[in-house]
Amino acid sequence: MAERKVAGTYVFEAKNPVERTQAAKAAAKLLRQGKLVAFPTETVYGLGANAWDKAAVEKIFFAKGRPADNPLIVHISQPEQLEALASPIPDAAWLLAEHFWPGPLTLVLPKKPQVPDVVTGGLATVAVRLPKHPVALALLEAADLPVAAPSANLSGRPSPTTAEHVLTDLAGRIDAVVDGGPCEVGLESTVLNLSGETLQILRPGAVTAEEISEVLGEKCAVAHWQEESGAKPPSPGLKYLHYAPQAPLYLLRGDPKSIVKALQERQQKWEAAGKKTGLLVSAETAPFFASEYLLVLGSRTDPAGMAARLYDALRRFDHMGVDVILAEGYPATGVGLALMNRLQKAAGGRVIDLE
Ligand code: TXA
Ligand code: MG
Repeated sequence: MAERKVAGTYVFEAKNPVERTQAAKAAAKLLRQGKLVAFPTETVYGLGANAWDKAAVEKIFFAKGRPADNPLIVHISQPEQLEALASPIPDAAWLLAEHFWPGPLTLVLPKKPQVPDVVTGGLATVAVRLPKHPVALALLEAADLPVAAPSANLSGRPSPTTAEHVLTDLAGRIDAVVDGGPCEVGLESTVLNLSGETLQILRPGAVTAEEISEVLGEKCAVAHWQEESGAKPPSPGLKYLHYAPQAPLYLLRGDPKSIVKALQERQQKWEAAGKKTGLLVSAETAPFFASEYLLVLGSRTDPAGMAARLYDALRRFDHMGVDVILAEGYPATGVGLALMNRLQKAAGGRVIDLE
């Protein structure tokens, strides 16, 4: 099998079906021994541990520097495995599983007592998803276990969409990473709460509220939670700063023409002050800028493509060592809602609305 070691962390190549089977077997063995293995999913790379093994799951929090009250998502390879983790399971969960699994939808359900508290951050609910990536599925099947896995980044850093991103953050801190190439979706799954009175999306993703509503014939709300409100967040993960590049990021919202003008003005101002100014723009507005620190996310007509490239772009700005990042905003509809949600988090409040 093609494998190498980076700072004590095994890297198992899984870029074709033969490698995939071998890598899944080797990585599954590590998981069964209580070790930590990062693996690709269609959304982002996850950092996995045997969900039944409390000590193994505790190591995830340590490796990532993750606050203990931020619960993990449990990954399964067969919908029926849900029954070992959650109870009661409403019909809506099975209907959604049928429509969206395998895929980027996480369901929050009342947990069974057998699920260790460390997995759920002490909550009475558990988050479960069945990923679509062939490497993730091969690994979950070979391990024959539910696998608790948050995104495989250091806490507060952008989620990893390649094995290199995982190694940048976690080499030497985890036992292995399975390299299945870049992730297709590039943003974390939609987290949907099915344990409350009403349907609520706790974190927007590639599966949209409209799609969920259509399947269930019921209204699906998206949680809006303001840090400043002092209220308890609907999901513990919401209260932590996420997806942050090293330089402060300013997000400009408005129509493309106003954005171009405002970005140009700010670029001039920052550059005149001697600041290395990163620009994160669309293919449509890119021709209006000249800068060696310009990254193009993709066409405005393809928000899914832009979403897939976002985290890599944020990490590239870190490599460039820019002092400040100016980012173009997009319409928050469809997948654009998830894209803007992550850009807003990366901005950490530095959002500028243009008329
Ligand atoms: O796409 C994804 O979901 C990726 C891949 C690896 O599957 N995983 C991921 O995990 O993004 P993580 O830990 O970075 O994000 C999990 C989110 C957090 O915001 C957490 O607070 C929320 O899900 N969550 C987990 N369990 C929950 C629960 N019982 N109730 C409410 N929110 C929960
Ligand atoms: Mg995460």
